[in-house]
Amino acid sequence: MLFKQQAQLRQKLLVLGSLAIGSVLYLVARVGTLERLQPVCHVEHSLLPAPEQIPLRSLQFKRALLHELRRGNGTKEQLGLQRLVQQLPQAIIIGVRKGGTRALLEMLNLHPAVVKASQEIHFFDNDKNYARGIEWYRSKMPFSFPHQITIEKSPAYFITDEVPERIFKMNSSIKLLIIVREPTTRAVSDYTQVLEGKERKNKTYHKFEKLAIDSSTFEVNTKYKAVRTSIYTKHLERWLKFFPVEQFHIVDGDRLITDPLSELTLVEQFLHLPPRISPFNLYFNATRGFYCLRFNIVFSKCLAGSKGRIHPEVEPSVLTKLQRFFHPFNQKFYQITGRTFTWP
Ligand code: A3P
Repeated sequence: MLFKQQAQLRQKLLVLGSLAIGSVLYLVARVGTLERLQPVCHVEHSLLPAPEQIPLRSLQFKRALLHELRRGNGTKEQLGLQRLVQQLPQAIIIGVRKGGTRALLEMLNLHPAVVKASQEIHFFDNDKNYARGIEWYRSKMPFSFPHQITIEKSPAYFITDEVPERIFKMNSSIKLLIIVREPTTRAVSDYTQVLEGKERKNKTYHKFEKLAIDSSTFEVNTKYKAVRTSIYTKHLERWLKFFPVEQFHIVDGDRLITDPLSELTLVEQFLHLPPRISPFNLYFNATRGFYCLRFNIVFSKCLAGSKGRIHPEVEPSVLTKLQRFFHPFNQKFYQITGRTFTWP
């Protein structure tokens, strides 16, 4: 009995401790963020509450509370989180695989009005998950305050036939984000990921050249998935049967690597969010060779090592062949989306 009481007391102290630490971090971050976060460009606020109504919450503060909630160390009411809800996403990063989907999601999560679903849910592309119904999907969503927007990413959505109609049925006015990279680089990145998986299992794998080029015709092998996924316009055209082009925003994945803030500002505008992601939130980490994320003065993080792999060297003639192959598809993609890239 005494032991149980002690355990309960310990648990209460733990919750109170987390709350106290969280509150201090929140205040520090709030003061810091208010000082630093200045609008960097004009955005349309009409669809949103005024910016100051969006609380600038510290990630740790939110995390500490949600952690306690998940561990069952208190109900939403006890933790003062009555207003938390699990919302269906108002925006989805539908692809493209290896375009920088994880970096985009994590960087958008820097915004105080954005909450991310950490895992890829694979609701719309997986028949078994889809059969579980929309409430199952909602149950996979993170807790958020009603004025925040929830975003999930599952890159397989972009290339899976059934997905556009299924998403349309859930929400015909949803906002769709597609992050693309130069198609040949993306195909090599895709190959590199599969290669690494094989190597981890001590399996051998073909060279990229063998997979990407048909050995009988010496033409590009359009049956190879890494090639097919990079024909962006083909996939986009399927989506356009359900959604108008205005509902899509194309993110330049190559620029997200070199100059993330400019891309994130465009996404904030597209989502009608007040500009809150600032230079403070992104810093270049020379060891990693990529930009990393700074949430506040105490908490920053880089993406996992599986993001930003070294690609194997590919025969230049094969790269050129692929670039020539993708060229007309790219032109069409520029035409449809109104976003032009300097791809070869
Ligand atoms: P590479 O591993 O080919 O370099 P996805 O998340 O869709 O799988 O995309 C992975 C790609 O995100 C990586 O491809 C990497 O280049 C890119 N990326 C963009 N910004 C990044 C960042 N800040 N840190 C690590 N990788 C980033």
